[in-house]
Amino acid sequence: MIPFLLVAALPLFLAAFSGVAEATSCNATSPCPSSAPCCSEFGFCGTGAFCLGGCNPFASKTLDSCRPEPLCKDSTFTFADQSRILSNYTLFDGNSSKYDWVIDKGSIQNNNGDLAMVLTETNGGTRMSSTRYVHYGTITAKLKTGRWGGVITAFITMSDIKDEIDWEFPGAATTEAQSNFFWQGVIPTGKSNGGTHGGLSDTFSNYHDYTIDWQPDTLAFSIDGKVVRTVKKSDTVDSAGVAHYPTTPSRVQLSLWPAGIPGSPAGTVDWAGGMINWADPDYKAAGQFYALVKSVTIKCTNAQSVPASSNITSYVYGGNRSDATPTIIYSNRTTMLNAAGRISPVVGSLSSALLALGMGVVLGVNALLL
Ligand SMILES: *[C@@H]1O[C@H](CO)[C@@H](O)[C@H](O)[C@H]1NC(C)=O
Ligand SMILES: *[C@@H]1O[C@H](CO)[C@@H](O)[C@H](O)[C@H]1NC(C)=O
Ligand SMILES: *[C@@H]1O[C@H](CO)[C@@H](O)[C@H](O)[C@H]1NC(C)=O
Ligand SMILES: *[C@@H]1O[C@H](CO)[C@@H](O)[C@H](O)[C@H]1NC(C)=O
Ligand SMILES: *[C@@H]1O[C@H](CO)[C@@H](O)[C@H](O)[C@H]1NC(C)=O
Ligand SMILES: *[C@@H]1O[C@H](CO)[C@@H](O)[C@H](O)[C@H]1NC(C)=O
Repeated sequence: MIPFLLVAALPLFLAAFSGVAEATSCNATSPCPSSAPCCSEFGFCGTGAFCLGGCNPFASKTLDSCRPEPLCKDSTFTFADQSRILSNYTLFDGNSSKYDWVIDKGSIQNNNGDLAMVLTETNGGTRMSSTRYVHYGTITAKLKTGRWGGVITAFITMSDIKDEIDWEFPGAATTEAQSNFFWQGVIPTGKSNGGTHGGLSDTFSNYHDYTIDWQPDTLAFSIDGKVVRTVKKSDTVDSAGVAHYPTTPSRVQLSLWPAGIPGSPAGTVDWAGGMINWADPDYKAAGQFYALVKSVTIKCTNAQSVPASSNITSYVYGGNRSDATPTIIYSNRTTMLNAAGRISPVVGSLSSALLALGMGVVLGVNALLL
């Protein structure tokens, strides 16, 4: 389905970006200017945070305007300790060794050691993104969904050119899960692409493991370790020989978002189970809607081998913008936003000074370093 920020929250997002944004919009045919070279996931040009997660290389000034994407790392995340979650993504500097996740919007809480994502009538929902990317791998989230019509719980992977793999949970249907995938923002041709997988014990009251097993040739969706859907890349090839299959490095995203609100397309509201009832007793009692995440496990299956001795740190886009299937290069370039990370080698106080200037870029004080 439609990533919720595009539907619900663009104005808030632009407000959060203010100071580094130019009003200029961007797309693959109209990329960003040198003065604001990075095209954000929402299609606006800027510097700083615009160049990190979600930055679209095909719509940015050059293919390497966006910072390299941090390499996948095998991990199991639990959430009793939330110190490695950055609550405001605009403060991220690209150091994925420091933060595992950034909050793109909304807020989280610690619910007896589980992560609670919060939706209120005014916050527009919550979304959290991994700082690292996955370029094929097996990702499992153990979670409890919302149970309210119009409210969507989601666990997805999303690339910077909008290859997307979804688990989604419309809140009005708590015995089923929906699977979906997109290729560069479009539904693969000629398919009714979503899958609905029913028969689950109540997804609000019970934890289930939802898995995205994304491999170069196959994509499998599992619930509690049992495969419920498999897609073969070879089955997505169009008449021109192009596979409509996700192939680009992707962040893992978890969200709770309001689909049943004024301004949402009618089809989205229907899919979500109607308009949200803000007078729901659960909402009255808790003062919020929420979904709980107990853990996320990521097992990387990089498409190329990454021996420790190679010093590989990141993924970058090679080839050119008109490639139907982008070329992904495994790179030793730094993912850091600041100039210190971009000039090698740097030492001691010079490094600190440049880091400080780098933060200036994040905050929109000084765009020159980009
Ligand atoms: C790309 O952006 C330009 C400039 O904003 C706009 O005129 C054009 O319609 C956009 N193209 C697409 C396909 O969205
Ligand atoms: C995030 O930080 C930026 C820059 O300091 C600030 O403008 C923005 O209001 C913050 N957002 C939130 C939600 O706190
Ligand atoms: C990234 O963060 C880690 C952990 O906090 C820290 O040790 C490292 O120095 C940081 N790297 C840079 C380039 O700032
Ligand atoms: C990795 O980095 C180390 C230390 O900078 C260097 O000695 C080594 O040659 C690098 N390896 C490769 C394959 O570039
Ligand atoms: C981009 O790739 C296409 C298809 O591979 C090729 O025809 C074209 O010449 C390339 N353009 C540039 C500028 O390299
Ligand atoms: C990065 O890779 C290039 C070749 O791609 C190599 O020349 C360089 O030494 C590498 N740097 C490090 C720090 O490994």
